[in-house]
Amino acid sequence: MVQTDPYLSRMARRVHPIGVSIFTEMSRLALEHNAVNLSQGFPDFPTPDLLKEAAREAIAHDINQYAIGTGSTRLRKAIARKSKRTMGISWDENREITVTNGATEAIFDVIQAIVNPGDEVIVFEPYYDSYVPSVEIAGGVARIVTLRAPDWSFKPEELDRAFNSKTRAIIVNTPHNPTGKVFSKEELDLIAGLCKQHNALAITDEVYEHLIFDGHTHTYMAALPGMRDRTITLSSASKTFSVTGWKTGWALAAPDLTDALRRVHQFVTFCSAAPLQEAVATGLEQAETNGYYDRLAVEYTARLDLLFRYLEQAGLKPIRPQGTFFIMSDISGLGFEDDIAFARYMASEVGVACIPPSAFYSTSDDGTKLARWCFAKRDETLHAAGERLAIWARAR
Ligand SMILES: Cc1ncc(COP(=O)(O)O)c(C=O)c1O
Repeated sequence: MVQTDPYLSRMARRVHPIGVSIFTEMSRLALEHNAVNLSQGFPDFPTPDLLKEAAREAIAHDINQYAIGTGSTRLRKAIARKSKRTMGISWDENREITVTNGATEAIFDVIQAIVNPGDEVIVFEPYYDSYVPSVEIAGGVARIVTLRAPDWSFKPEELDRAFNSKTRAIIVNTPHNPTGKVFSKEELDLIAGLCKQHNALAITDEVYEHLIFDGHTHTYMAALPGMRDRTITLSSASKTFSVTGWKTGWALAAPDLTDALRRVHQFVTFCSAAPLQEAVATGLEQAETNGYYDRLAVEYTARLDLLFRYLEQAGLKPIRPQGTFFIMSDISGLGFEDDIAFARYMASEVGVACIPPSAFYSTSDDGTKLARWCFAKRDETLHAAGERLAIWARAR
């Protein structure tokens, strides 16, 4: 079809369907109305001093030029050591580990590296918003399977139907943004079985692997029988070390998949920031022995409890997450037309910004009845949000 809209005429057609993220509008509204911003997913508390000091030191020692494209040797070794402990898998840092500009770049790279035009990639909705555009830019087709509240489970028969001869891969994000679901071992076993049956790959986004609550456990897909060499495991320092602005992530995959991913990575960014890679290496090395991961989970559980109580008291029906730093709440019955109307109202009239999750859905309208709140915030921030929610609830 000939493109007639003059605004779109200078954009490549494959870019047309990519919308502008809802984060932009919510952050603008939050700023405009001086709202407490629980929308975007990043901490408002300081990064650990250890990492900040290590970054300063790396810059002072002139680690300021291009890093090795695949990642600094020290960082790849630190990732290998950590992954051996957490996943029980040995990864060769030279042939199986690649450092990228955050997990987001790794997601893009791996999809461009393995998806041919017409291939299908199964994506659970709600989803992290980079998955579908990454698949579409590669010429692939996203096959959506919906996770349903309150336990965010999927129907096994629906997933079974989504797999077919065109299925190239499935993306599994666990712990899952925005729902806070931690996929159970049984669910992952079922997905692994379908991957093996249909000769499909699994791309796992595990950036919240250390943010797990209430005794739930994180299962690594790559550690399941027969899955090591068909899984591309992605993670990142962003959430674990409160350095979302550093965009330091990594991909673990069998040598042929790593080679494919690196072919893309070399022309997307070539390498990520050299001094920050050294600082993340320091964080990972120290965390092996200093109890960091346990403390992180304890601190986040306290923040979760705090915001959960405030949401509950305000009648916002929060659904307790098993992991991540988000709470979904059920806003049905509050009289709003949809989640976008609710989120706009909350930011501009109540002074607390959240994310309307319908942006994370493409087939179901479940998102219109939900709101996502981020609790990666200082106690003062959560108290300020709680007070405003309480005032609004009393006036209702
Ligand atoms: C599921 C998921 N994957 C990836 C990312 C981004 O990770 P990174 O900062 O390493 O690119 C996020 C950030 O919000 C996320 O929620």
